[in-house]
Amino acid sequence: MTDRYGTNTSSRLGGRVAVVTGVASGIGRAIALELAAEGARVVGCDIDDAGGEVTMRDIGLYRHADVSREAEVEALVAATMEDLGSLDIYVNNAAVQIEKELVETTEADLDRIIATNVKGVFFGCKHAVRAMTATGGVIVNLASVLSFVADGLLAAYCATKGAVLGITRATAVQYGQYGIRCNAICPGDVDTPLLRAYVDAGDDPEGRLREVASKSPLGRVADPKEIARSVVYLSSDDSSFMSGQTLVVDGGLMALLYR
Ligand SMILES: NC(=O)c1ccc[n+]([C@@H]2O[C@H](COP(=O)([O-])OP(=O)(O)OC[C@H]3O[C@@H](n4cnc5c(N)ncnc54)[C@H](O)[C@@H]3O)[C@@H](O)[C@H]2O)c1
Repeated sequence: MTDRYGTNTSSRLGGRVAVVTGVASGIGRAIALELAAEGARVVGCDIDDAGGEVTMRDIGLYRHADVSREAEVEALVAATMEDLGSLDIYVNNAAVQIEKELVETTEADLDRIIATNVKGVFFGCKHAVRAMTATGGVIVNLASVLSFVADGLLAAYCATKGAVLGITRATAVQYGQYGIRCNAICPGDVDTPLLRAYVDAGDDPEGRLREVASKSPLGRVADPKEIARSVVYLSSDDSSFMSGQTLVVDGGLMALLYR
């Protein structure tokens, strides 16, 4: 069955319009690919235009947007509405990480990471909600296991990922009345450039990667596609009564105390 755009609507997200932030690399790239494979019409944004164009070349539209700037997020949503006529799914994925413990983190570090990881998610929710109030829709925010537990070498990052859960709940609580659902995914360690930068910061990157993998009960880090499939679930009607929640996708890491 096809809709008026010729999209296959028998697929799980057939005909729905999705925006994904941070599509140039890692999990964002995998999310864009999986949403498109499920029939969504996807708009991807990033500040890395070369990488973003590569991801979106055969599957949707690419737009430059720095999520830390409200005007750029607002323009991204407005352009999506104009080009594709609606906004059904908005995925706040873009983030940065700073490998520093608390006492070494400067005010400038903190401002930089909050700008992308907190303000970016806040602006994404704000403008997605405005576009979705007439029709309903779904927002998925990428948080982390570090929203709940800590890595002492990622103090500012932990702070921002806790904040993402606050934004998720406030959005779900206030806008459920418009048929808008908002949930967060909390990945464990996923093999992306962000994780590689973290392990590369030590003296023995391969050893550090093996150590990270061995901590997980499954004994490995995730492939980005394994997180993207969770985003498909939260974006689809399969999760139609789920809102304000966190879905932990961590290979069992947070369940572990001893073994
Ligand atoms: N990789 C992991 O182990 C892991 C674990 C838990 C949570 N996460 C979360 O998953 C999400 C994706 O992480 P990843 O590992 O794929 O990271 P990544 O560094 O591989 O990709 C992040 C993307 O976001 C883009 N980006 C950064 N700042 C931006 C901005 N201001 N505006 C627009 N785009 C911007 C980058 O250019 C990049 O393409 C993040 O929210 C991250 O915190 C990752």
